[in-house]
Amino acid sequence: MLSYRHGFHAGNHADVLKHFVLIELLNYLGQKDTAYTYVDTHSGAGLYSLDTGYATKNAEYETGIAPLWDRDDAPAALQAYLDLVKTLNPSGKMRYYPGSPYCANEVMRAQDRLRLFELHPSEIKILSENFRKLEAHKAEQGERQTVRGKRIMINAGDGFEGLKAILPPPSRRGLVLIDPPYEVKDDYRRVKVCLEDALVRFPTGTYAVWYPVLSRIESKQLPERLKRIPANGWLNVTLSISGPTPDGFGLHSSGMFIINPPWTLEATLREVMPYLVRVLGKDVSAKFEIESGETEQVRVKPPVRASAERTARNTVGAGKSINATTTSTGRPQVGSLRTNNSNNLSGPKRIDSRTNTARAASSTNRDLGQGKRTARPANLSKSRSR
Ligand SMILES: C[S@@+](CC[C@H](N)C(=O)[O-])C[C@H]1O[C@@H](n2cnc3c(N)ncnc32)[C@H](O)[C@@H]1O
Repeated sequence: MLSYRHGFHAGNHADVLKHFVLIELLNYLGQKDTAYTYVDTHSGAGLYSLDTGYATKNAEYETGIAPLWDRDDAPAALQAYLDLVKTLNPSGKMRYYPGSPYCANEVMRAQDRLRLFELHPSEIKILSENFRKLEAHKAEQGERQTVRGKRIMINAGDGFEGLKAILPPPSRRGLVLIDPPYEVKDDYRRVKVCLEDALVRFPTGTYAVWYPVLSRIESKQLPERLKRIPANGWLNVTLSISGPTPDGFGLHSSGMFIINPPWTLEATLREVMPYLVRVLGKDVSAKFEIESGETEQVRVKPPVRASAERTARNTVGAGKSINATTTSTGRPQVGSLRTNNSNNLSGPKRIDSRTNTARAASSTNRDLGQGKRTARPANLSKSRSR
């Protein structure tokens, strides 16, 4: 089904969360000189007009970028995102909103590579045209150097499938954003299957999945299922700008699930999310949640006296998940306008005592280079703790 057009939703609260986190992840990768690859499996059009066309229909940007536009008190990490959007609007008037490919292209360096997928025949044309103009403009300014191979590749096709062919990236450093429309429930299943496959091909990559927080079962199950995929660790952040409407329509809450997150991300989120709740929150149900889980490295040893054939069969398991007997470090945290001192959200509030008992370091990927691993780890999340 190809009825989804992201232009209707451009700049809403879900885009703010997604694009702010995306920029954080890319900036982290950019701290090391070695090139990295960014893959956008569901790119959309790349750039959206806010004052004409689809975006004007429901003006969803009023739930996201609009209330942030004139603020001068944003935390530094959020300011980096706001600066990027403002650079796109040099007149100072909020007219254009950047999609994920545009955000990425702005943050990425000459040596890095973008791999973009889009299935919709109209959106892919707009995306290609937007990038053609952008690159022509940058070339005029002498901003981009040529790298070996193409810096940007735009693929008209299925991003879930296309990802398989390009992992692992040449430098073994990379970020994959998976952001499907979820208009068909099969998208939920495909996200999980796609990640399981991708993590076998590129276990040290960072993966970010955007998802809507809805009452439908597939939406509730998705983060729980992703927590069980073998990886070094995960981080789940959600932003709700209000409680559900009585008729159940409208998106009031969304999440970003990050597999193999940089160790710096959680602290940044703890700084920025209370601010987003304060500025974008519409009622007392506005809140954020952060939870993270860590896995322990598990080495798969071949049996001491195994035959050659058995050894081969067992070592294949190095690429599989092993359920380790270690403890979980899941650590959810909730901040909400519902807290007594709702006027003071300078720090996240721990309002759910059940979910705040486990305290442990949650950092992963401390190596900026996302270096090689010797064996696949088993996944341990809070929900599987013993
Ligand atoms: C939520 S939008 C993407 C928004 C974009 N990532 C951003 O943040 O600006 C999802 C896009 O995925 C496209 N799409 C749907 N199924 C797809 C698939 N299997 N492969 C690639 N693109 C797909 C839709 O046409 C739509 O443009």
